Amino acid sequence: MSAGKIVVLGTGGTIAGTALQPGAGLGYRAAQLSVQALLAAVPGLEQAARGPLAMEQLAQVDSKDMDWAVWRALAQRCTQLLVNSQVRAIVITHGTDTLEETAWFLHSVLAARKPVVLTCAMRPATALAPDGPQNLRDALAVAASAGVQGVLVVAAGSVHGAQAVSKVHPYRIDAFSSGDDGPLGWVEEGVLRWRHNRPLALVNPAPAAIKKIVDAGAAPRVEIVLSHAGADGRIVDALVADGTQGIVVAATGNGTLHRALHAALERAQRAGVAVRVATRCSLGQLLVQADDPFPSTPGLSPVKARIALQLQLLGA
Ligand code: SIN
Repeated sequence: MSAGKIVVLGTGGTIAGTALQPGAGLGYRAAQLSVQALLAAVPGLEQAARGPLAMEQLAQVDSKDMDWAVWRALAQRCTQLLVNSQVRAIVITHGTDTLEETAWFLHSVLAARKPVVLTCAMRPATALAPDGPQNLRDALAVAASAGVQGVLVVAAGSVHGAQAVSKVHPYRIDAFSSGDDGPLGWVEEGVLRWRHNRPLALVNPAPAAIKKIVDAGAAPRVEIVLSHAGADGRIVDALVADGTQGIVVAATGNGTLHRALHAALERAQRAGVAVRVATRCSLGQLLVQADDPFPSTPGLSPVKARIALQLQLLGA
C-alpha cells in the first residue's frame, strides 16, 4: 500500500439525496447530505480505504445542473491534489445524470497519474436499500488498489473508463454501461479484478492546459443539435444568429444528416462556427470517410464531443 491519504470530494447527486417519505425511491431531493455524512454511513470504510481519509465538500448540486464553474473548481482542486505527495488518490461523489460528462472532462484535463475515481448512486441515501454506501466503499477500494491510475467510474460493482462510459438506464441500480468495450473490471468483496487481469494505462498523455481553463472563466458556447426525421435547419440558423461558437450534431448512423440540417450546418461553418459530427447510435463508433462534409469525433458521444470542442475552442 502506498503512503498518503485518499481525498473524497463531494459534489452532490442522488448519493447525497434525501426523501421526505422514508424509503421512497422517487420524489427525493438530490444533493442534501454532506460528504462527511455519506462516509459516516459506509461500514468497513477504513478497511476499504486501507489508510487515512480526508473529505471536502467541493460543490452540492443535482448533476443535471452541472456547469463549467463546478468543472473548473474540480479541475483546479484535482490538479492540486494530484501533485501533493501526501495524497495517493481522489474519490469524487457525483450525481449519475451527467457523471459521464464530468468523467470525460476530468480525463481530458488531468495528468492523473494517481486514481481519480468517480462514484454515485441511483437511490437516495434515505431509500430502503440505498446503493450509495456500497458504491462508495467500492470506489475507495479501487482508489486504494495497486497500479490504478487515471479517471475511472465505479458503480454497481463495475469499473468503467471515462471515454466509453454512459448512463443507459433511468432507474435500475446498474445504470451504467461501457457499450461495446464492456467494463474495465469489477469490484468483488472489496477486491478489484481487472477484466484483462492487469491494470490498464488510462492516463491522458496530453491533457488540456489547466491554466487556459482556469483563466477562461466562462466556457466557449457549444450547442448540440439532433438530426432526426423531419429536421430542418432553423435551429442551427437561430444558434448562429445568437452567437454560438460551436455546434455538435448528433447524426444518424455513420454520421448521416437530414439534408435541411446539412445545408444549415454548411451555412454555420461558412459563418465561422465550428461544426463536429458525432453519432446518436449508442454502440460502436463513427467510421471516418475521406469525403465527410464536416469533421467528426469518432469514439465520443455527442455530450463528450461537445466537451472536446469546448476545450479545442479554448486552445487548451
Ligand atoms: C443527479 O444526477 O444529481 C441526480 C440523479 C442521480 O444522481 O441519480
